[in-house]
Amino acid sequence: MLLTKTEPEVWVESLSEKIRARSARVGIVGLGYVGLPLAVEFAKAGFTVTGIDLQQSKVDGINLGRSHVADIRSEELAELVESGKLTATSDFSAIAHLDTINICVPTPLRKTKDPDMSYIVSACNQISQHLHPGTLVILESTTYPGTTDELVLPALQKPNLRVGEEFFLCFSPERVDPGNAQYRTRNIPKVVGGVTPECTRLGALFYSQALETVVSVSSTQVAEMVKLLENTFRMINIGLVNEMAVMCDRMKINIWEVIDAAATKPFGFMPFYPGPGLGGHCIPVDPFYLSWKTRQAGIEARFIELAGYINGQMPHFVVDKIQNALNDHGKPLRNSHVHLMGVAYKKDIDDVRESPALDIIHLLRCRGTRVTYTDPFVPSVRIDDGERLFAADDHGIVAEADCVVIVTDHSGFNYAKLIETSRLVLDTRNAVKSFSSPKIVRL
Ligand SMILES: NC(=O)c1ccc[n+]([C@@H]2O[C@H](COP(=O)([O-])OP(=O)(O)OC[C@H]3O[C@@H](n4cnc5c(N)ncnc54)[C@H](O)[C@@H]3O)[C@@H](O)[C@H]2O)c1
Repeated sequence: MLLTKTEPEVWVESLSEKIRARSARVGIVGLGYVGLPLAVEFAKAGFTVTGIDLQQSKVDGINLGRSHVADIRSEELAELVESGKLTATSDFSAIAHLDTINICVPTPLRKTKDPDMSYIVSACNQISQHLHPGTLVILESTTYPGTTDELVLPALQKPNLRVGEEFFLCFSPERVDPGNAQYRTRNIPKVVGGVTPECTRLGALFYSQALETVVSVSSTQVAEMVKLLENTFRMINIGLVNEMAVMCDRMKINIWEVIDAAATKPFGFMPFYPGPGLGGHCIPVDPFYLSWKTRQAGIEARFIELAGYINGQMPHFVVDKIQNALNDHGKPLRNSHVHLMGVAYKKDIDDVRESPALDIIHLLRCRGTRVTYTDPFVPSVRIDDGERLFAADDHGIVAEADCVVIVTDHSGFNYAKLIETSRLVLDTRNAVKSFSSPKIVRL
């Protein structure tokens, strides 16, 4: 008996074949910290990749082989661009010629801590205009559980374009850790969950061509929740250790020594470290996507709210420590000069999104303090009311400042010289752990 294939089976088969042969034309929407490394990885695996971004300067830069993401070297990018494996455009009509589309657009919070889904909605509306049968779409932006099914699917599905039949839809959380040289896009295991089992199978097949390990899960909601569990776990543990740091400060116990000793326990303990507050596009933001969603289901995410409060208090704690340290030197905070070492939210990267340094600068300026900073990765930062602060050369300014605060422990800082030349140092990162000096005040 001759069995004829159904139309959906034909789409699945032809897409699978193209993916296996690496002839599938890959599209990445949103070419930031997440999208560009992903585009590079698929281009390196032999696929022809088209990146789509609204920001023309990023598109132009990529087409000239210039990387705007620190983890991607321009030489590496230029090679892929020159060989025709990677191009960028701001024109969504390119989607008409693509077989796969990964959505990597921002998912910030509104001031009210509600999710701002406008970037995903806008990207989906643009994609929808050009979506055609036989396409695999994967959302990678971190979001609340239910987004793929409740928001993305209705935006893309049409009577002649049904999910699991004519097109395929998955969620796959992005776990990239900017600045991490050991774990990159390629060797971080990739979780993927589809709207239907066929969607999951195609999503897993796609990632397995370019990435080392793929973990399939049973639904888009599970995949969405995986990311939120990971980041909520970090945020709450950082909140706990920040609260411990405040307690230890009051009791005059060295929190860093406590953590190091606790970390000698070979099981059941994982060290987290205190600091000036949370930063970046993920840890301070993602858990609130979850608490917003659970609130709708009548559940209050109390751990998240509490950790958010404690972490949000850390810049205030740092400013109080500066004030007390200056006081011990007979100086009021008002009219003092405080110099910050580092404004990026973590070491050796250039990202200042949600950086606690911005809160510290704001709080110090509100109290009448003159603030300067040094950061080899961040030439300028936008502060209150859009004013721009420019990085200072740290050589002379460290000696002039009444207090120097290590906010970001960049590897390139010369800590020995810093301690030698400054009058007073507040270390919020345990960066000068190995130094002993009456000038040093630790968090
Ligand atoms: N940065 C990280 O470390 C990280 C890690 C894991 C997950 N994530 C998640 O990945 C997503 C992207 O984050 P990111 O850090 O890459 O953001 P980003 O701001 O660096 O990049 C997003 C890009 O999307 C572009 N864009 C915005 N709207 C668009 C649209 N409608 N069409 C096309 N392009 C559009 C922007 O111009 C920008 O270049 C977010 O949901 C974030 O939470 C980020």
